[in-house]
Amino acid sequence: MVNLGNTSVIVGTQWGDEGKGRVTDMLASSADVVARFSGGMNAGHTVIVGDDRFELHQIPSGILHREKKNIIGNGTVVHPESLVGEMVDLEARNLPLDNLFISDGAHVILPHHLLLDRLEEERKGNQKIGTTRKGIGPAYADKVNRRGIRMGDLLNPEIFRAKLENNLSYTNLLLAKIYNSEPMTTDAIIEEYRPFIERLRPHITNTVAMLNQALEDGKEILFEGAQGTLLDIDHGTYPFVTSSNPTAGGVCTGCGVGPIHIRKVVGVVKAYVTRVGAGPFPTEQKNSFGETLSTQGHEVGVTTGRHRRCGWFDAPMLRYSARINGLTHLVLTKLDVLSGFDTIPICTGYHYNDQVIEYPSNASILEHLTPIYEEMPGWSEDISDIRNVKDLPSQAQAYIQRIEQLTQVPVAVVSVGPGRDQAIVIDPTI
Ligand code: GDP
Ligand code: IMO
Ligand code: MG
Repeated sequence: MVNLGNTSVIVGTQWGDEGKGRVTDMLASSADVVARFSGGMNAGHTVIVGDDRFELHQIPSGILHREKKNIIGNGTVVHPESLVGEMVDLEARNLPLDNLFISDGAHVILPHHLLLDRLEEERKGNQKIGTTRKGIGPAYADKVNRRGIRMGDLLNPEIFRAKLENNLSYTNLLLAKIYNSEPMTTDAIIEEYRPFIERLRPHITNTVAMLNQALEDGKEILFEGAQGTLLDIDHGTYPFVTSSNPTAGGVCTGCGVGPIHIRKVVGVVKAYVTRVGAGPFPTEQKNSFGETLSTQGHEVGVTTGRHRRCGWFDAPMLRYSARINGLTHLVLTKLDVLSGFDTIPICTGYHYNDQVIEYPSNASILEHLTPIYEEMPGWSEDISDIRNVKDLPSQAQAYIQRIEQLTQVPVAVVSVGPGRDQAIVIDPTI
C-alpha cells in the first residue's frame, strides 16, 4: 500500500524570477523537507526576513527554517566551489548546515562547462541564448551524453580520476578543434576541486532513499522549482530555454519520487511578466510602461545582475503553464508593483494570421503574433501593508478575479511585498 504523503510542488509559471524563493520560504513552515529538483546556480532565489536578505542559488529556500531537511536533488547540477561559498555565507549568518543533503546522483559542473558556456555564446553571436554562463547547458549535455561526473563519484579518488580522464579525452578535442582553446588537465581539476569535495563530503548521500523514506513516514515534502515553465527544455520557448525540466514533471525524475505522491502543484505567477536573456516575449513593453515596471519592481537579476525585460500579464501563457504543470493553486506575487497605473492591460489571447490562437509552443510563431489586450482599471493606493483580500482596492480585487477567470486556477495567496509576512492568504489549506 503506497503512503501518498503530503507533497507540494512550487513551479515558476513564466520565465523565472516569479518569487519562488519567497513562496518556498513561506510554505516551508508547514513542511518537513524542502527539495530542489532541477537547475543549478543559474537560479537566484531571494528571501527577505526582517532586515536580512538571503540570495540562494543552489541551496533550497527552506534552509532558513532550522528544523527542516533541505535536499539538493539528483536532477540538479552542482558547482562545488559556489555551493561551498553559499554554505560559508549562511554559516557566517548563524545558520549551521547539518540539515543540508546533496544527492550523490546530482551532476558536477566542471571548469570546462563554464568555459564552454561562454565560448558557445560568443560563437553564436547575435543568435545567442543569453544564458547565465554558469555552465548549465554543457553540464546537462555531458549528463545526457553519458560522460558526466556525479557528486557520488567525487567521493572516491580513483573513480573521479578515471571518469574525469574519460570526459577530458572528449572535451579537449572539442576545445581544440571547435573553439581553438587550450586543453584542461585532470591533475589541475582534481587539485582545484579537492578542498570543496572534502567540505561537501558529509552532505553527499542517497537523497532518493531519504525522500522516499520521508514519504513512507507521512512527512510533508515541498519541492522547490527553479527557472520557469517557459524555460523548460521540452515545453518552453525552445531554443531560448534552460537545459532541464523545471516543470512539475521534473520532480519525479529530478528527485526519484513517483508521480502518485504529488498532491498540490502551486504555480508562482508575477502580476506582470519578466524575462532575462533572449527569446520571444509577446507582451513585452519596450516603453515607459516597461521602464516603470522595471523600476517599481526592482527587476534586476539576482544571478547575473542583468536588467529583466518587462511586460503585461499574459493569460494564454498562464493557461499553458496550468496545463503543463497541472496547477492546483496560484500564488500571485508583486501585485504591489502595479499600484499607480491608470489602467492595466491584460493579454487575453493572440492574433496570428487573422486567427485568434492559444499559446503556441513554437518560439518562431511567438515572435509574430499580436497580443489582444483587455484594459483593467488601475488603483493608486499602496497595498503593501494589506493582509486581508477584502481590504484591497476593488480594482485590485477585480484584477485577481479576472486572472482566476481567465486561467480557471484559484489564487490561494497574493504577495504584496518581498517580506516574509507581506502576504494575503486567501486559501489557508494551500
Ligand atoms: P525567484 O527566482 O522566483 O525566487 O525570484 P527572484 O528572487 O529572482 O525575484 C523575485 C524578486 O521579487 C526578489 O527580489 C523578491 O524579494 C521580490 N519579491 C517577491 N515577492 C514580492 C512581492 O510580492 N512584492 C515585491 N515588491 N517584491 C517581491
Ligand atoms: P530562477 O530560478 C530567470 C534563463 C537565462 C537564459 C536561459 C538559459 O531565479 O527563476 P541557462 O544559464 O539556464 O543555460 O540560461 O534561461 N534563466 C533564468 N531566467 N530566472 C532563472 O532562475 C533562470 N535560470 C535560467 O537568462 O535566458
Ligand atoms: Mg530568480
